[in-house]
Amino acid sequence: MQIYRTIAELQQALFTARQQNFSVALVPTMGNLHEGHLALVKQAKTDCDFVITSIFVNPTQFGPNEDLNAYPRTFDEDISALHGLACDAVFAPEVDEIYPDGLKLETRVSVPSLARLLCGTSRPGHFDGVCAVVSKLFNLCSPDKAYFGEKDYQQLCIIRRLVRDLNFPLEIISVQTHREASGLAMSSRNNYLSEDQKQQAAVIFRTLEQSAETLREIQMPDLRSLEEIALGKIQAAGLRPEYFAICNPDTLQPAHSIDQHFRLLTAARLGQTRLIDNIGVNISK
Ligand code: PAJ
Repeated sequence: MQIYRTIAELQQALFTARQQNFSVALVPTMGNLHEGHLALVKQAKTDCDFVITSIFVNPTQFGPNEDLNAYPRTFDEDISALHGLACDAVFAPEVDEIYPDGLKLETRVSVPSLARLLCGTSRPGHFDGVCAVVSKLFNLCSPDKAYFGEKDYQQLCIIRRLVRDLNFPLEIISVQTHREASGLAMSSRNNYLSEDQKQQAAVIFRTLEQSAETLREIQMPDLRSLEEIALGKIQAAGLRPEYFAICNPDTLQPAHSIDQHFRLLTAARLGQTRLIDNIGVNISK
């Protein structure tokens, strides 16, 4: 496995891979890899000949009061984990390599109808930063397939839309959320939590599951009341919920009782840590 720090080195390696007719997979990450990330790499390795994992803590997707500096950086451990999976290449550039003209972007990539909702409400500009770096990575790696987790469901919807609207010639593959035994979705930000807080945070997935169960059991449920009840449960467990939304899985607009396909998404704070999770529900009527 080779580690590339510059675009020039990466592109030389890609040129060689393409000469051998290798199919190319890209797994974009911000590092501090856990089983959730590794599931993406494993899937990529199953599907494609040449797998690139990018490790880049992207400054443009962090707000001014967010955890850019505190974000866990565990490069050596990440490299050993990727070695173990026979990943072919790691692209780990410095900030200047990706943003040579600074972090104030002149050219913007934005999917406002999806990006201003849900997490976008409390993280203005976050998804524009994600779209910017993901577009750059797509252009730099020209992968056949790119892998994203359902854990960040809103991000996944936005990237699918970006790829469709701008005709990026690649396929987006989504991978289901990996969880701790408690149900807590694996996340680099779980590192900020104590063991007790991790148990406390399991209320998020429990509440998602309970709400999903109610959706399956009750005909024509009042979705907005279900959302209120769920918010109450998360709050009662000592978290500060930001939203709990029962949405259309494609548009992320509020779902209706008569719908058959739903995505339940939530964000909550525990201490300083912001946690997100979601699940899908399909009902045959
Ligand atoms: P990061 O949070 O490092 O996540 C990288 C990828 O791993 C994302 O596609 C994310 O959805 C996926 N992932 C994270 N936790 C997961 C879990 N528990 N189960 C399955 N997949 C999981 O998301 C980002 O980085 C950045 O926004 C990025 C796309 C790299 C752009 O900077």
